[in-house]
Amino acid sequence: MKQIRVWDPLVRVFHWSLVLGFGANALVIDDDSKLHEWVGWFVLGLVGLRIIWGVIGTKHARFSDFPPSAAAAMDQVADMARGRRRIHLGHTPLGALMIYNLLLTLLAIGLSGWLMTTDAFWGVEWPEELHEAAVAWAEISVVVHVVAVFVESARTHVNLPRAMLTGVKSIPER
Ligand code: HEM
Ligand code: HEM
Repeated sequence: MKQIRVWDPLVRVFHWSLVLGFGANALVIDDDSKLHEWVGWFVLGLVGLRIIWGVIGTKHARFSDFPPSAAAAMDQVADMARGRRRIHLGHTPLGALMIYNLLLTLLAIGLSGWLMTTDAFWGVEWPEELHEAAVAWAEISVVVHVVAVFVESARTHVNLPRAMLTGVKSIPER
């Protein structure tokens, strides 16, 4: 096994704090409460920090390391269909598309949530509808994200959740 350090501490703390914050607001905390808004702001702050880190952060954390590319994503689908194992050190092309989807959806959740709390939009329906729809989309995306992480881990024999915990990818020698 080759051990390669890929995720810096900021990416890891960001990821698991996001899981906790999003999970708490989506599943546990009363959405009519002040705590819901505070946790929502916390999640939005995490996403803001991650966007800055995507520009100035370490190698695999940078957006330039995982640009959104439909062509690269189709190549990965072809790899899966043909049973070809290609190891990506940073995010895979399909993973990258999911990450942009999640970050943008979280921004929409935060923006619509904030609008609901303003005097100007208080009682206006569309921010609430947008908030609800974006949360539903995020929940569907998270399910697909988690299933994909486990499928890709099994297929490539690289334990991706463990790498997001420890920062290190253990890559089997072929
Ligand atoms: C982590 C991200 C968030 C999640 C998963 C989330 C989830 C939800 C859900 C499921 C609802 C109920 C929707 C409905 O039944 O109409 C809701 C309502 C609401 N959320 Fe969020 N939310 C998040 C972030 C935020 C943020 C950042 C704010 C504002 C700062 C916010 C403010 C509100 C408000 C004001 C309501 C309406 C509560 C009511 O009076 O019924 N949320 N949210
Ligand atoms: C227990 C459930 C989860 C597991 C096991 C998990 C696992 C992972 C793994 C392994 C990666 C790295 C994928 C790769 O190697 O390319 C990743 C990335 C990511 N996940 Fe999750 N995830 C979970 C839940 C979530 C949730 C709930 C969200 C958001 C609401 C989320 C958002 C993200 C984001 C934004 C990234 C990109 C990380 C970065 O580059 O900063 N994940 N996740």
